[in-house]
Parts: sequence; structure tokens; C-alpha cells
Amino acid sequence: MGEGKNLVGVDIGTSSIKVVQIKESRRGLGLQRLGYSPLNPQTIVDGQVMDASAVVEGLMRVFHDAKIKQKEVAISVSGQSVIIRKITVPMMTREELNEQIHWEAEQHIPFDIKDVQVDYQVLRKKPETSQMELLLVAAKRDQINDYAQLARDAKLKPIICDIDAFTVQNMFEYSRGLPPDQTIGLINVGASLCSLNIIANGVSAFTREIANGGNVVTDEIQKALGVPYEQAEAYKCGGAADPGEPFRAGMVPQQVVQVVETVTDSIAAEIQRSLDFYLATSGEGEISRIYVTGGTSSLVHLAQAIERRARVPTEVWSAAERLQVEAREVDGNVLQLRAAQLSVAAGLALRHERETRQ
Ligand SMILES: Nc1ncnc2c1ncn2[C@@H]1O[C@H](COP(=O)(O)OP(=O)(O)OP(=O)(O)O)[C@@H](O)[C@H]1O
Ligand SMILES: [Mg+2]
Repeated sequence: MGEGKNLVGVDIGTSSIKVVQIKESRRGLGLQRLGYSPLNPQTIVDGQVMDASAVVEGLMRVFHDAKIKQKEVAISVSGQSVIIRKITVPMMTREELNEQIHWEAEQHIPFDIKDVQVDYQVLRKKPETSQMELLLVAAKRDQINDYAQLARDAKLKPIICDIDAFTVQNMFEYSRGLPPDQTIGLINVGASLCSLNIIANGVSAFTREIANGGNVVTDEIQKALGVPYEQAEAYKCGGAADPGEPFRAGMVPQQVVQVVETVTDSIAAEIQRSLDFYLATSGEGEISRIYVTGGTSSLVHLAQAIERRARVPTEVWSAAERLQVEAREVDGNVLQLRAAQLSVAAGLALRHERETRQ
């Protein structure tokens, strides 16, 4: 349950920083401020921050340019340092569980328990076997601390650190609702990471991070055409190399389309391997629908390739569908252009200053 003001959602992604400030009301989500600041490709490599000062500068710039005064923020982490597992433990009270959770977690996570921050959610109580099912979440303290420190160095006050996959799930739940009796797949494909979250009967049942995304498409265009990074990126996004030039689809060489098709299909194949693993091990029902978000979902071939391989209706979804611009400071063009990239930041912006645990 949320109390107090909404926090500013800050998503520090491999390609860019996205910042969303909203005000929740009965009418919906009023978008107060929106910030976007690209990061140089060397700044964060495979989820690792290589140049902290560039991130801090980017954060300060984006808050300044977007005219955001509020300092309290929600941030998130993802990637290899986050582990999410469904586990079964003996039935116990919340107090007992709070004491036991570290011991339980130790059996399930491959890191030293001292190095991780552990959290959990009770999914289901099974009195018939005196057991209960938990969703266990562990994230390396190092990464949480590093990201929080980046925010502090940018004169911000990080209040909450969430996990990318859950943030997207929260936003999706707000936007579309979670079907109570169906299984859906939520996939966020960014620049270097693709995160998959399968939600069965309204609860996350399986998550997986795949180290693949839009950067691979750009790299392959660069190699195939022998062009610089910026040009490859521009070709991929369907426009000319110079952002000042008007958009001319005809300017994009045919070879680019082939590379995009090949690489998006290989991303879809990796996703399919995870779906197959889930279907073979979970015992839950078939997946009825897949939703794709993240910057790379702008490549229409991606959702098509996932749909073809998974044989499940697949659609592109973005958090922007629920954001109503409520301030003159919000640039409608940025909202339109970056819509697919805002799911994490918007989900984080749903979090509140003070939250009580349900
Ligand atoms: N119009 C577009 N067409 C194709 N690709 C696009 C478009 N717009 C953005 N992208 C790609 O989306 C990716 C960025 O998406 P996003 O902002 O979701 O990722 P990120 O959060 O920075 O990265 P990650 O989550 O992997 O750390 C980049 O690879 C970018 O090239
Ligand atoms: Mg991202």
C-alpha cells in the first residue's frame, strides 16, 4: 500500500537514463515530468557501470533539463546480480519467517548470503502439507549500493530499490490488469538485456534475464555494412544517420532489414528456450498471451518472431498508454519517441515515499 507522494522513477539503463514523475489520482496517472538522457555506449557495458561520473552527470543533467525539483527517487537493479526463485518452506508466522529467511535463502542462491539483500513475498499457503510457497528475491548489495551511490552523488535521495522485472509487472498490472486465471509472458527487451517474466494467475511464476538486446542488432549492422556505430544505430531506428535530417525510410539499405530480421529472430529463439524450460518444469498452464516492451520492441520484427516461435499471440505494450500529460514541461515528442523505453521508469514512479507491507 502506498502512502505519501509518488517517488520519481529513475531507470539507469545501458543505453540511457529515463526519468518519470507522475501524480496518481482517481483520473489516472498524470505525467508531471519526463526526462531522457542517452548514455555513451562505453558508460555501462553489459549492466556494469564503467564510467560512474558519466552516469552522475547524466542524472544531474536530466533532472535539470526536465525541471524536476523532487529529490526522492526509486531506482532499480537487474541482470546477473538479481536472483528470483519460487521456494517452499514449512508453514510459519511472519516473525518466524523474518528470522528464518536468511537461512532458507542460503539453500537457494549461489552467492554468499552476506553479500545479498534478501526479500520475499508469500505466494500461497498450503495447510494440507503444512507448507507455504514464497517468492524469494535476492540482489547483490554491491550493485544496490553502487546504484544508490550514483543517485546520491547526483544529489538525489534514493528511497526504494526495486527489480526491473517487478517494476514492469507493476506498471503492466496498473495498465492492463493481471488476468486472474491465465498465464501471460511479459518481456522487456532493452539495449543489453532481455528480461522475461511469466505471470501465472496474477503472480510471477518464472523470471529469466537473457544477455541479448538491441545492442547486438546495432553491432551486427555495423559489421555487415562497415559503418560507424551512430550510423548503424540510426539505420536500425529507421532513419537517416543525421538526426537533423528528415526521416526517409527509403534511405535505409535493404541489408539493414535482413540483419534486423536475423538478429531479432535469434533473440526470439533465446526467449523460446526459456519458455520451453518454463513449460517443461512448472506444471502451470499454457501461456495465453505475450507482451513485449522496452526500446527494442520498437523493431516490429521482434514481436513477430516471438509470436511465430512461441505460437502465442504477441503484442507490443508500452507504459505510455496510461500516462496523461499534465504539465507543459513534458515534451510530447519525447513521450511518443521514447514510449517503449519507459516501462521501468514509469513502474518505479508508481512507488511511494512511505509504503506499508501488505
Ligand atoms: N525506434 C527504435 N527502433 C529500434 N530500436 C530502438 C528504437 N528506439 C530505441 N531502440 C533501441 O532500444 C534500446 C534501448 O531500449 P531501453 O531504453 O529499453 O534499454 P535500456 O534500459 O537502456 O537497456 P537495458 O535495459 O538493456 O540495460 C537500444 O538498443 C536502442 O537502440
Ligand atoms: Mg532497461
